[in-house]
Amino acid sequence: MKIGKYEIEKPLFLAPMDDITDYPFRNICKEWGADVVVTEFVSAEAVIRNVDRSLKKMSFSEKERPIGIQLYGSVELSMANASKTAESFNPDFIDINAGCWVKKIANRGEGAGLLKDLTKLERVLSEVKSNTNLPVTLKTRLGWDDNNIAIFDVLETAYRIGIDFVTVHLRTRQQGLKGEVNRTWIPKIKEKSKIPIVINGDIKTPQDVEQCYNLGADGVMIGRSAIGNPFIFKRCKIFLEKGEYIPEPDIKERIQWCLSHFRRHIEYYGEQRGVPTFRKFYNGYLHGYPYIGKIRTEIMNTKSAHKIEEMLVSIMENPEELDKIIHTNIMD
Ligand SMILES: Cc1cc2nc3c(=O)[nH]c(=O)nc-3n(C[C@H](O)[C@H](O)[C@H](O)COP(=O)(O)O)c2cc1C
Repeated sequence: MKIGKYEIEKPLFLAPMDDITDYPFRNICKEWGADVVVTEFVSAEAVIRNVDRSLKKMSFSEKERPIGIQLYGSVELSMANASKTAESFNPDFIDINAGCWVKKIANRGEGAGLLKDLTKLERVLSEVKSNTNLPVTLKTRLGWDDNNIAIFDVLETAYRIGIDFVTVHLRTRQQGLKGEVNRTWIPKIKEKSKIPIVINGDIKTPQDVEQCYNLGADGVMIGRSAIGNPFIFKRCKIFLEKGEYIPEPDIKERIQWCLSHFRRHIEYYGEQRGVPTFRKFYNGYLHGYPYIGKIRTEIMNTKSAHKIEEMLVSIMENPEELDKIIHTNIMD
């Protein structure tokens, strides 16, 4: 599949996730084999007002390539201007969000709200396309709800405008992030689409990835299953390439990566913002470790980055010992 100037066979994408797929986490996922990454979504309105936090979300390191900057908004002029700013960061593509289901965004016509007004979607895509020399891509859903499946019209529009590829989250806006993902949509979508399709939604295992490719996907995108679990990319890659099912890294290695991620996160955000915003990652890194509940509670209640590092190092250096101590406490 062609992604900007890169040609990647069966690419694995890290999904854009607000407050998750930031600079430190994208870099970790790249190290674990993600082929393509996308920034968190960035509001076009915030970009044109030069809001610092939004501009910061568009910066990335060279080793993240190929990378897309994702924009959301519904005002054509704002999207056009924001795409010029995005282009100045020199990403490999600009991705337009027509899938965000969150009420305050979708109900004002942005994100999945664009699926309710396909002429608006067409105008937004055209404006972005004619204001950048970069490839423009789209991330969307099946439709607003089961009675309003829009994906086939969206694909037709995307083709007409010259969108490079479309990522389809196999759910409707009404489903949010819940409910079954039905992969029988893949061959139907592929049959109608004249442009490459990246499939997204509930990809949890190497077998899920393989199934999407067998059903005709051009690329596969992983979101929540990568949170605190960047190892999933390597496991999927090896399964695709060699048919081998490698186990998850053991607890020691997972904590080592948690620590590495934590340090980069604190370096990027500083201690005050970084310690609380890292909390969403512990569950993934520490899952499956016996008696982890107690350690997690302690970490969650600690404000000092140094103390958290000490706790993680002590578990990493001696997981069995810690296991025994906690086990004894529980037995007491
Ligand atoms: C915390 C969170 C934040 C998200 N933020 C974005 C976003 O900024 N842009 C976007 O296109 N999708 C966003 N999504 C949706 C994901 O990209 C993805 O489509 C969805 O999680 C389904 O994939 P999964 O089942 O692999 O997680 C977000 C999802 C989550 C859970």
